[in-house]
Amino acid sequence: MIGHNLSKIKTVRDFDLNGKKIFLRGDLNCPIENNVVKDDTRIEALLPTIKYIIENNGQIVLVSHHGRPHGEYIEDLSLKPVARRLEEILDIEVSLVDCRLDDKKIQEIYENNQKVTMLENIRFCPEEREGDRKYAKKMSKIADIYINDAFGTCHRKHLSTFFIVQYFEKKGIGLLVERELKTYADVLENPSHPLIVVMGGSKVSDKIRVIKNMMSFADTFLIGGGMAYTLMKVKGYDIGNSLFEKEVYNVAKETIEYIENDGVDFILPQDHLIVKDIDKPENKRYSRQIPEGWIGVDIGLKTIENYRKVILEAGTVIWNGPMGIFEKTEYAEGTKLIAKAIAETSAFTVVGGGDSGRAIRSFNLNQKVDFVSTGGGASLRLLEGYGLPCVEILEEK
Ligand code: 3PG
Repeated sequence: MIGHNLSKIKTVRDFDLNGKKIFLRGDLNCPIENNVVKDDTRIEALLPTIKYIIENNGQIVLVSHHGRPHGEYIEDLSLKPVARRLEEILDIEVSLVDCRLDDKKIQEIYENNQKVTMLENIRFCPEEREGDRKYAKKMSKIADIYINDAFGTCHRKHLSTFFIVQYFEKKGIGLLVERELKTYADVLENPSHPLIVVMGGSKVSDKIRVIKNMMSFADTFLIGGGMAYTLMKVKGYDIGNSLFEKEVYNVAKETIEYIENDGVDFILPQDHLIVKDIDKPENKRYSRQIPEGWIGVDIGLKTIENYRKVILEAGTVIWNGPMGIFEKTEYAEGTKLIAKAIAETSAFTVVGGGDSGRAIRSFNLNQKVDFVSTGGGASLRLLEGYGLPCVEILEEK
């Protein structure tokens, strides 16, 4: 279950957009370096909704956050480079206006004839995180229809994603959020078996609820990344100086016992790439054991081979979290070869946002999987079996 009834949620296609102003909440939290957008993924993901609105003669007030400025103006977190990139891609003028608006400015924007007006980083306004209802009500006058297409932010109850919604009569989701929800509904509610969950990332504490939720319908879990070491310790293996989350030891132990009683295949790495000092990769070696003083930084070659076999025979693969410290080329082999197997399998393949999304793109394999989600935290919430508050609020009662 994904915790949402899609038939009760309107999409942008359900409205007459002609001559209307659309409050479009996007997630344009793109990496920016030296005032240039370094990765267009999130802009590309929002384009279908932007183009749909423009083609149907609607006008957009585009709202997004960037980073976590906590209510202060920080030049490096400005959306100026994103507005410029959008102008280039769409070949139309995108004007960027302050996110702190008075009634006069709101009226001006409501009445302008621009196809896209973009607000500056909404998190420059403290009202965004505080969910200030007074400001939400005032800001809602800027548009006729509210559309949320910010999948990556749908787990955050902020002014522009949640509190403003109640002031719109006409509201719904965009084409990206629709696609994300439909894909997760397919793989979580009606997967082709065997359903294989490839899970990694550094912290087991982030993934316990996902494991608990998915163990009743997944066939096999393949575990890697930093989270594997806490689980190995629970099982009594030596993990040397590898990442260990002491504070979740008991919950992890309980989860493992629960899984073992349930008979789900829960596979931990059988060998590892180890180093003594993460900053000295020249001394790395593969090993079945992790001796005292050594640190696991990637899954080993035997593990890669076994995981690959399981992935190639899957019906559905959901991948969330890298297999090692893939950001360092010297430790990226496990993540890369698992990504390759996911790209090669005939199974339906879904890659979670966040680090696994970044990893698959860094290996140029993103076009070879069925779906790469744009949301890290939001994806996890769905995998945990919970709904997203900013989608829930759009469901018709
Ligand atoms: C993301 O990049 O995960 C989303 O844009 C959400 O950002 P946040 O975690 O700062 O709310």
